[in-house]
Amino acid sequence: MSHFDYQNGVLHAEGVSLPAIAETFGTPTYVYSKAQLLDNFDAYANACAGRDALVCYAMKANSNLAILDLLARRGAGFDIVSGGELLRVIAAGGDPKKVIFSGVGKSVDEMRLALGHDILCFNVESIPELHRLNDVAGSLGKKARISLRVNPNVDAKTHPYIATGLKASKFGVAFDDALATYRTAAQLPNLELVGIDCHIGSQLLDDTPLLEALDRLIELIDTLAAEGIHLHHLDVGGGLGIDYGVAGEDQPAPAGDYVRRVFQRVEAWRAARHDGKGIKVIFEPGRSIVGNTGLLLTKVEFIKHGEEKNFCIVDAAMNDMARPALYQAWMDMQPVVRREAQRQNAGAVYDVVGPICESGDWLARDRELPVEAGDLLVMKTAGAYGMTMASNYNTRGRAAEVIVDGGQVHLVRRRELPEELFALESVIK
Ligand code: LLP
Repeated sequence: MSHFDYQNGVLHAEGVSLPAIAETFGTPTYVYSKAQLLDNFDAYANACAGRDALVCYAMKANSNLAILDLLARRGAGFDIVSGGELLRVIAAGGDPKKVIFSGVGKSVDEMRLALGHDILCFNVESIPELHRLNDVAGSLGKKARISLRVNPNVDAKTHPYIATGLKASKFGVAFDDALATYRTAAQLPNLELVGIDCHIGSQLLDDTPLLEALDRLIELIDTLAAEGIHLHHLDVGGGLGIDYGVAGEDQPAPAGDYVRRVFQRVEAWRAARHDGKGIKVIFEPGRSIVGNTGLLLTKVEFIKHGEEKNFCIVDAAMNDMARPALYQAWMDMQPVVRREAQRQNAGAVYDVVGPICESGDWLARDRELPVEAGDLLVMKTAGAYGMTMASNYNTRGRAAEVIVDGGQVHLVRRRELPEELFALESVIK
């Protein structure tokens, strides 16, 4: 069930109408549903119940403190990719001991910060990183828990920008080099080898490649055990896709089903293992937790009839939502108030574009929309990689963010003011 629906022709987020939100908070505004967020997290958590498992939300998808706080209170851990994200987890009351640190370029300062907070694990992506982490841990008199991110070389069949587990990728260690890399790591005195991980890509509608990658990791765990390297956790990464409403596209595997399929394989393998030892399974979902939790509310400024195309110019832009410009992502746009019948221009087709001075500044193309200037529109399924990828291009303040909880609306990030955008700058004296 979606927590965004039309009531008497007016779109609502839970119990609150979108026009009321626009009236109070202005536009563009990201609107999130608390119930949807918790439903999505619970789909993972419930399927993990009774198992040795941890759901580490990949906060790059949406790192608003209020979202992190709600998930932390539900028991989530976090997958971070920077020191800044760790500070957000702590500010939101999350537990650093449930944090895993991914990313190919961790700095010395970031390693120090993370070791200081005793995070659960570093997902290491290269041999130079192993050496750096060993040195930093040694200088602090600590041991760093590590996992190696392995490229299972499974084709995730997604957009090349978001496929990460292939041979040509900058991420992870090649499958064929994994054993040697673990041996190197085992020699380093300030590292403790605890896990293995992968992340093959994002927006995967079919979970088959995810399960194939899991099989390859399991194979490696057995090989390592035969060498005396016993791992305690298996991190399957994120990547499960969501329904963006693209016509003709397959429906994504439901998160609970995917998690159950992971455990079926892990249990079967565990039963066949000679040492009978257990292993913790870690998930790193991002998009499937927050994607359909949010929409981007925007207002039509002008309707413009160009020579070849009609443009619906809105007050949101590529700086608010970069996915169409960056990945040619198809995002669903809908009017907030349904009044097709009253409109003269029914059947008209528009490109929905923002005010930014770039031809690439578009949000949707060739959409039939019964719109007029002043109307409200929403971009649906915009909760993941929306606000976190927003910028201040064209000195545009980033959008406000609100969370709806039943009949209540909470402002969880106010709109940026123009003067704040240059407050850190100075002229040469
Ligand atoms: N773990 C790691 C190591 C990752 O790199 C990512 C995402 C995730 C987990 C979470 O993946 P998810 O469950 O969200 O698919 N900006 C792009 C997506 C980039 C994904 C980057 N890595 C987009 O808007 O489609």
